[in-house]
This record gives sequence, C-alpha cells and structure tokens, in this order.
Amino acid sequence: MYVNPRRLRKCQFVQLLATCFVLCLMIFWGPLDDSTIVSHMKSYSYRYLINSYSFVNESLSLRDNLDRVAGYQYLINHREKCQRQDVLLLLFVKSSPENRHRRDAIRQTWGNEQYVHHYLKANIKTLFVLGQPRDLTQRDQIQKRLQMEDKMYGDLIQQDFLDTFYNLTHKLLMQFSWVNNFCSHAKFVMSADDDIFIHMPNLVEYLQNLSQIGVQNLWVGRVHCGSAPVRDKKSKYYVPYEMYPWPAYPDYTAGAAYVISSDVAAKVHAASQTLNSSLYIDDVFMGLCANKMGIVPQNHLFFSGEGKAPYHPCIYNKMMTSHGHVKDLHDLWKQATDPKVKKNSSGLWGRIYCKIVNIMLLCRLHYQNTYPCLAALS
Ligand SMILES: *[C@@H]1O[C@H](CO)[C@@H](O)[C@H](O)[C@H]1NC(C)=O
Ligand SMILES: *[C@@H]1O[C@H](CO)[C@@H](O)[C@H](O)[C@H]1NC(C)=O
Ligand SMILES: *[C@@H]1O[C@H](CO)[C@@H](O)[C@H](O)[C@H]1NC(C)=O
Ligand SMILES: *[C@@H]1O[C@H](CO)[C@@H](O)[C@H](O)[C@H]1NC(C)=O
Ligand SMILES: *[C@@H]1O[C@H](CO)[C@@H](O)[C@H](O)[C@H]1NC(C)=O
Repeated sequence: MYVNPRRLRKCQFVQLLATCFVLCLMIFWGPLDDSTIVSHMKSYSYRYLINSYSFVNESLSLRDNLDRVAGYQYLINHREKCQRQDVLLLLFVKSSPENRHRRDAIRQTWGNEQYVHHYLKANIKTLFVLGQPRDLTQRDQIQKRLQMEDKMYGDLIQQDFLDTFYNLTHKLLMQFSWVNNFCSHAKFVMSADDDIFIHMPNLVEYLQNLSQIGVQNLWVGRVHCGSAPVRDKKSKYYVPYEMYPWPAYPDYTAGAAYVISSDVAAKVHAASQTLNSSLYIDDVFMGLCANKMGIVPQNHLFFSGEGKAPYHPCIYNKMMTSHGHVKDLHDLWKQATDPKVKKNSSGLWGRIYCKIVNIMLLCRLHYQNTYPCLAALS
C-alpha cells in the first residue's frame, strides 16, 4: 500500500501534539480530579487522541499461574446441558439467589427454550448464574429452596462465592469458564441481567442471519466509549487509583446485555486467565480482556444498556433489549411478540408511520438513556 510520507509525518505530528495535550491535562488537572467534568475531559481526550491500552497487558498481567486466585467450586451445575446438540445461543442470566420471582418470569417469557424451539425454530440454552446467598442467617434455607427450584427446572449454575456486587467479576469468570468447559460449540453467548427484557424473536433472527454468514469476532451491545473510572468514594462504581490508575477504560459493552460469538468467548477466557481480576466492575474487566486480544465492541442501536425503551409497537418491531423490567415483563412480552406488530409496521405505509412515531419517541431534546435518535432513522 502506498503511503504519502508527508501525510505520515503530519499524522505523527498530530499524535505527538495530542499526547502532549493529554499529558498536560493529566499533570495540571491531576489535583482537581474530584470533578467529573475534568475526569471526563481527560478520559475522552485519552480515548479519542491516544487510544492505546498497552498498559493493560504490561501492568495487569499476572506474573505466572501461581498468582491466579484459587477457583471457586460449583455447588450446582449442569455440565451436560449443551451436549450432543447444536446450540445457536447460550444465554446466561446473572441472577441472585433471592430473585426467584424474576427467574420464573424469565422462564415464562424471553428465556423459554421451548418457545424459541417451537416458534423460532432455534436452539437456545438458558442458565441462571448464581453465587451463594448473602444472608448468613437464612443461607441454608435459601440454599435448600434453590436446590428444589433446580430440581424442577434444571437451569441453575452456582459457585461458592458470595453473590454480591463486588463479586460480579467472579460471576463473569464463572460464565467464561463454563462456556469453555461445557459449551464451547455454542455459536453465540449472551450475558444478561435478570431485570431486562430481551426481544427474543428479533434477537434470534439477527443471530441466525449472522450465523449464516459465519460471523466471527462479534461483540455487540450498548458500547461505552472512553468512560472514566469513578473516583468518588460514595459511588457504587468507585475504583481506587491503586486498582486502576489510568484516565480511561477501554471501550466495553454495558453488562446488562451483550452478545459475543464463540471465538470471542474463547479468546476472552484465555485473556481472563492472564490478567489480575481484582477489578470488580465486571463489564470493564471484560473490556480489558477483550482489549488485550484485540477485540473491538460493536454498538447496536437497539440494545438499550441502562435505559427503558418506550412502550410502542413501532419500537417492538426492532428492539433487542430494554432495561428495568420486572413487574411488566409478562405484559411487555405479550405485546412485543404479537405477530400483528410485524404486520402493522411492514408495507410502505406501516414503515412510514413507524419512522415518524420512532422519531417522535426517540429524538427528544432532553436526554433519555434508551435508544439513540439515530435508531429511529435507521
Ligand atoms: C503481553 O505481555 C506478555 C508478557 O507479560 C507478552 O509475552 C505478550 O507478547 C504481550 N502481548 C501483547 C499483545 O502485547
Ligand atoms: C466474594 O466472595 C468470597 C467468597 O465467598 C467472599 O469471601 C468475599 O467476601 C466476597 N467479596 C465481597 C466483596 O462480597
Ligand atoms: C435477516 O435476513 C433477512 C433476509 O436476508 C432480512 O430480510 C432480515 O431483515 C434480516 N433480519 C435482521 C434482524 O437482520
Ligand atoms: C491485583 O491487583 C491488586 C490491586 O488492585 C493487588 O493488590 C493484588 O496484589 C494484585 N494481585 C496479583 C495476583 O497480582
Ligand atoms: C395493528 O393495527 C390495527 C389497526 O390499525 C390496530 O387495531 C391494532 O391494535 C394494531 N396492533 C398492534 C399490535 O399494533
């Protein structure tokens, strides 16, 4: 490939300038770091001007395998779940022992393997991923109930770490190790929270299309670009400097819902074995692993991340995921998967009508954390 030498020098010059600029920002604004504006400016300039995360490999790598913390043991497992069959999607739902009602709702709606098999002609496997009950006084009782639940449905996996926010990275490692050991032939793997809604018909169609073209290197969801580590001690997402001293995280998808292809699952699993996993923000840790393997996340306009989608048939026609659904899960499922939704929004008039409705719903001036305005125009 021909590269104009003058152009090259210009690029290097710009990069040098950018590097100086960011360094200056870091030096002069270092002491003021409590301000979110400053930390966002630093993180964005880092992300968009320098965008190199080689320090991840250099500083967070474990020296040898002896450093790896001892793995946790399975209390409940189903190693045979995927065996001897093609699996389009292995669906992990991150749940907590106490959230029985959420799991039941998911079993009856988007996590229902029989529904997907019967109506969508696809094979998915749903597993709820759990740690141990937090409440010491009721632990035995809750555990006993979990065993009974599992006897009925056979869809729980549980390891012996405490099911807490700060152990979410363990839960992530557990999912990757499970795929690697028991289901490495699944074409796609999804990780989802137990308070989201997934439009399974839309998702399955999308994945079937991707599977037909033999897609690889897929990591799709709502992408966070250039996020800054939170340095406010009062925040749930607080990360101390000792844990992560750099101004920006690599790009990552919101942990609420993302999909990866099986080759990515294998690569991320390999990377996770070599990095210090003390960073407890699981989606960021996933970003570090992926970055080390050169995997770049892809934004999907209809993955909502943290936001709740507007209720409207024209939205249901294209939606993939929406966050913050517990009580309304059954209603939303019934309405969003009604075959009339597709019928009403197809044809020339249906499409024009839905375009206008979606612009009105998504392109508002005040910020709302759901699908971007761009989604309405797509
Ligand atoms: C990461 O670091 C290891 C040694 O710690 C080195 O062998 C490897 O080549 C590095 N990988 C990249 C992509 O820089
Ligand atoms: C994570 O789980 C381990 C093992 O159960 C437990 O010792 C530890 O306290 C938990 N960490 C947090 C922050 O909850
Ligand atoms: C899947 O492919 C079909 C046929 O090519 C196309 O009509 C449909 O829009 C695609 N669906 C998605 C969700 O990409
Ligand atoms: C991982 O990083 C933490 C700091 O965040 C450090 O205290 C710990 O010693 C590191 N662990 C290993 C095995 O390097
Ligand atoms: C479809 O359109 C018909 C007539 O316009 C309307 O009565 C019905 O409620 C619509 N159904 C859905 C699911 O949008």
